[in-house]
Amino acid sequence: MDDNNYVDGNYGPLFVRLGWLASGTYSRFDSTGGSNGGCIRFEPQSTWPVNKGLSIARDRLQSVYHDHPGLTYADLYTLAAVMAIEQMGGPTVKWRHGRVDYEDGKKSPPANRLPSASQGAQNIREIFSRMSFNDRETVALIGAHSVGRCHTDRSGFEGQWTSTPTTFSNEFFRHLLEDTWQERHWQGPKQFEDVKTKSLMRLPSDMALIQDPEFKIYVIEYANNGSRFALDFADAFEKLLELGVDFPSSY
Ligand code: HEM
Repeated sequence: MDDNNYVDGNYGPLFVRLGWLASGTYSRFDSTGGSNGGCIRFEPQSTWPVNKGLSIARDRLQSVYHDHPGLTYADLYTLAAVMAIEQMGGPTVKWRHGRVDYEDGKKSPPANRLPSASQGAQNIREIFSRMSFNDRETVALIGAHSVGRCHTDRSGFEGQWTSTPTTFSNEFFRHLLEDTWQERHWQGPKQFEDVKTKSLMRLPSDMALIQDPEFKIYVIEYANNGSRFALDFADAFEKLLELGVDFPSSY
């Protein structure tokens, strides 16, 4: 996880993003998508713009795969995310093995299944309810943006959400609520910066969590109660990583 040669000295945030994007393609309408199959390592999914940068995480995990015969990529990508959350000081997320690997990317779902950082509450609610999440779970999950950062060569966006990008916390919500945010004037896509220090960023989709009155209820709750956030996050993240997975019945 730790590596001084990598951004912020820690692969953790990238592993969390890998676990999320491997799983977030699930649709409750036709039960397709999700982490099972490990399709994110194959084309077309591996080359979706939203997945840019994730090959770095997959390459980093290759040696773990080789050292553990029987471990599937699909299990590995989700386990790495769970371990990263814990290593960064977050809650223990329940995890179980049992995902299988498909042999190619033929079962990859359509490319439009993931949320857009440039859109608002309607897009978020549509996408997360398709996965089967309610508003509370949705806001908790996006609180993962307490860790990590945006990279111009991956998403086009730039900057970190908190001043401690390798520590899991409720700081994403605290800053979102307590700071004043303004649109950043730059060459890149529309994003926001905090007026006071200009050192923190928010995506338009992050801002939607305080623009939408229903989402905002949970932003306020999590900003005020870090333990509640950690508990809700652990439950929602476990559910996310298991969407669409048929675990053997003996588990
Ligand atoms: C509306 C929903 C979401 C949108 C639009 C979104 C968008 C983004 C974008 C644009 C980036 C920057 C990628 C880069 O340039 O490296 C990012 C990073 C990240 N996202 Fe999200 N995200 C969403 C939800 C989530 C969820 C649900 C999780 C996990 C539960 C998550 C975890 C992360 C993490 C940990 C990073 C940092 C990665 C790194 O530092 O390399 N995101 N997200």
